[in-house]
Amino acid sequence: MKAPSTVALLCMSGLAAAGGFEETCTDISLTSNLILKANCHINKTDVRKTELDLKDFFYNDNGILTTKATYGASSSFADSCTECELTNDPINWFQCLCRDWTGFVLASSLDLDKHISNQGGNLHFDPSEDSD
Ligand SMILES: *[C@@H]1O[C@H](CO)[C@@H](O)[C@H](O)[C@H]1NC(C)=O
Repeated sequence: MKAPSTVALLCMSGLAAAGGFEETCTDISLTSNLILKANCHINKTDVRKTELDLKDFFYNDNGILTTKATYGASSSFADSCTECELTNDPINWFQCLCRDWTGFVLASSLDLDKHISNQGGNLHFDPSEDSD
């Protein structure tokens, strides 16, 4: 008989899809310094205040917010995007005005719930295979 192997665990940790923090976090807000704040459940009863610096994870790829550092989007979006905010509709999308290579400014947004999860009361960024 085979013991449960570490292969199964490795496969699980390799799953790209995650996110879903909005299910177990409340009071979600964004500071002017682009830090996401929320109160997140550790378990059913306990909640902790937690935060995540979005500048570390998002990029501006020719005017489009993305989670990938590509050739054209190697530095933080914070240098080339302004007026970032959480939208109300749809709820808690992250939206900014971002400059493309020609200097043209366009609105771009990302669904935070697709990229951020609550892991034991800590906000965690989940890279995704999707281009957004
Ligand atoms: C929930 O988490 C807190 C903090 O880690 C812990 O003190 C408490 O016992 C936990 N409660 C339950 C029901 O597991």
